[in-house]
Amino acid sequence: MVIQRNKDSEPAARADALAAAEQALRDSETRLRLAMHATGLGLWDYRPGQERVGSNEEFAVLLGYEPDSFEETRAAFVERLHPDDRAAVRARFRDYLDGQCADYAVEFRMRTRSGEYRWFRSVGQIVDRDPAGKPTRVVGTYLDITAQVNAMRRLSELSARLLQVQEAERSKVARELHDEIGQQLTAIRLNLHAIAREGGLSARVEDCLSIVDDTLGRVRAQVLDLRPPMLDDMGLGAALDWYCRRQEERAGVSILIEGVEGLARYGEEVEITVFRLVQEAVNNALRHGRADEIRVTLHDVDGLRVVVEDNGVGFDPDDQVQRAHHEGYGLSAMRERVALAGGRFDLSSAPGAGTRITVFLPRQAGRRS
Ligand SMILES: Nc1ncnc2c1ncn2[C@@H]1O[C@H](COP(=O)(O)OP(=O)(O)OP(=O)(O)O)[C@@H](O)[C@H]1O
Ligand SMILES: [Mg+2]
Repeated sequence: MVIQRNKDSEPAARADALAAAEQALRDSETRLRLAMHATGLGLWDYRPGQERVGSNEEFAVLLGYEPDSFEETRAAFVERLHPDDRAAVRARFRDYLDGQCADYAVEFRMRTRSGEYRWFRSVGQIVDRDPAGKPTRVVGTYLDITAQVNAMRRLSELSARLLQVQEAERSKVARELHDEIGQQLTAIRLNLHAIAREGGLSARVEDCLSIVDDTLGRVRAQVLDLRPPMLDDMGLGAALDWYCRRQEERAGVSILIEGVEGLARYGEEVEITVFRLVQEAVNNALRHGRADEIRVTLHDVDGLRVVVEDNGVGFDPDDQVQRAHHEGYGLSAMRERVALAGGRFDLSSAPGAGTRITVFLPRQAGRRS
């Protein structure tokens, strides 16, 4: 078979294909521009060593500039960064280019045209390298996250306030129980004793006395659970030692506590945070772990390091289904308290391997910025 070639149609077909490719490119650029606009993403395109940085319209708009007259440079970006964030952002970018860290994703404040600082999240990726492997082009995006940052801040202020109110309320209820109910019960008890002395010990009076004694015991236990007075009077070490002895007696398990003797005094927030944390961790170990040995260790290493370990059944902390259904208030309250005090929280556990909670708190509580 002979194929008849039409010599004139070849350049025409090539021109058509070129036009179609150009159209496809234009369509794809439009789609990208629309997507960046719709998601509010500013784009940056940086070639190491060059001063000019490529950017899209959205980027100018995010910073309050007219897109037509806006040109981004490396120096302008550095100068626009909040002085408190500058060193960290530059170090992270350098580390990413040097291959010291796997990704570049940072959150920082940038000054906008009006002089106001807003929060941004920037994510970037190396897209080109020279033959020696040195990055020659990095492309990334900016997203304005000021609203989220403010919402998170309000939420954490609210949690801090909630925890303060809860502690204050506990102290108040403990005081009232002790001063009002406790005193009244003591008075009834004295009267019953007097009645018993005057009229002989009738079975009914004897019964009343034993009910009152029992109720007094319960009230005292409630007062201690709500807010152990030794936490305020004698400090964290004494309060934890007392608490562990008491739980050991109640549950009939062994609770070892190390590092409480001569423990320094910390700020009120640190002491309450640690006391509540140990209380919850020991309770969890007894209730869920069914542990028969629990170890609490405190260590002052330029801050306070606390470890609570148990030899119980353990659980899988990464099990999302279990977390969604079973994470009660206890573990999230621990995390929250530690974050509010500016500390670090770590939980490790596995089925059959017990549970360990490690916490580090700075001497003076306070969230790091
Ligand atoms: N020491 C532990 N040993 C075994 N499982 C644990 C331990 N600590 C926590 N868990 C598991 O993690 C879950 C969440 O614990 P968390 O303290 O948050 O809630 P909770 O104890 O169930 O309820 P709450 O503390 O609100 O009374 C528990 O239900 C349990 O399944
Ligand atoms: Mg719990």
